[in-house]
Amino acid sequence: MKKRVFSGMRPTGKLHLGHLAGALTNWVKMQDEYDCIYGVVDWHALMSDYADSSQIRNNCREVLLDWLSAGLDPEKCTICIQSHVPQHAELHLALSMITPLGWLYRCPTYKEQILNIQNKDLSNYAFLGYPVLMAADILLYKAQLVPVGEDQSAHLEIAREIVRRFNNFYGDVLVEPQIKLTPTPKVPGTDGRKMSKSYGNAINISDSPDVLWEKLRTMMTDPAREKRTDPGDPEKCPVWDIHKVFNSDEDQKNELFEGCRTAGIGCVDCKKKLREHVEKAMIPIRERRAKYENDETLLQALIHEGARKAQVMAGQTMEEVVNAIGFVPRER
Ligand code: TRP
Repeated sequence: MKKRVFSGMRPTGKLHLGHLAGALTNWVKMQDEYDCIYGVVDWHALMSDYADSSQIRNNCREVLLDWLSAGLDPEKCTICIQSHVPQHAELHLALSMITPLGWLYRCPTYKEQILNIQNKDLSNYAFLGYPVLMAADILLYKAQLVPVGEDQSAHLEIAREIVRRFNNFYGDVLVEPQIKLTPTPKVPGTDGRKMSKSYGNAINISDSPDVLWEKLRTMMTDPAREKRTDPGDPEKCPVWDIHKVFNSDEDQKNELFEGCRTAGIGCVDCKKKLREHVEKAMIPIRERRAKYENDETLLQALIHEGARKAQVMAGQTMEEVVNAIGFVPRER
């Protein structure tokens, strides 16, 4: 029996090369080895974007297209939209009954966001409960493994504590999930900071060859290398970091490294080489994107089938949950 895996992403916009090199590559690998369920968690997006929900629908579509183009295969894994599986909301309600407020107030991501996010009013009930909804996502499928970044570890710890508390009260129904830390190569954006949509420095998975080159061409390099004749230091160059991720030609990388340090090669030539490698990686990605983007019926069928598969698993767990709690058994 394959181990069960759940992970999710909030639909907040187009995904970029950072997502591709981190989470997505990892998710694509995992779909062969595990029984994976990947969710576009639109309820989670509403939690912070409730005052303007106008982008959520389109963002779900973008995320799905990015996932499929990156190589998530609906034949190998289950891809669903969270709100299409109503059991997420139902289990969230059940778990909210037994989750002590202290666990939520103490959560470092909660404290951090309340302090740092000023343009949104986050003083609402569900925002505090973010980790409870996330726990419901995972526990609904009895996932044993959850591939996420280090930033999610506190949420996973809360999910595990919720399982222990639930099982203590009602018997062994839920499964304690384990975190599976995603290896995340360093992918800086065009300005040298971490690639992020909110910094406006992202190269998107869906960028056309022209847009991609324009972003690479104008990307920051070693700031100390002002003139073509100045030697540079690749270790201080964000373009070099992207080479490390997308360029597997070791001989060429050695040449570029030495060329930079001796001013033998200019930044534009180095970027042109990088462009070739990124473009090569993008070929299958763009091919898959075209297939789904131009076939709305196919995309809709896939969304529908994903929801159906997820509902079967989720329905099973919810039945066990309400029976364990001791509610009146449901008509089947
Ligand atoms: N909180 C996660 C993030 O911001 C997204 C998420 C929601 C998630 N539910 C999940 C991740 C369940 C893993 C499992 O990245």
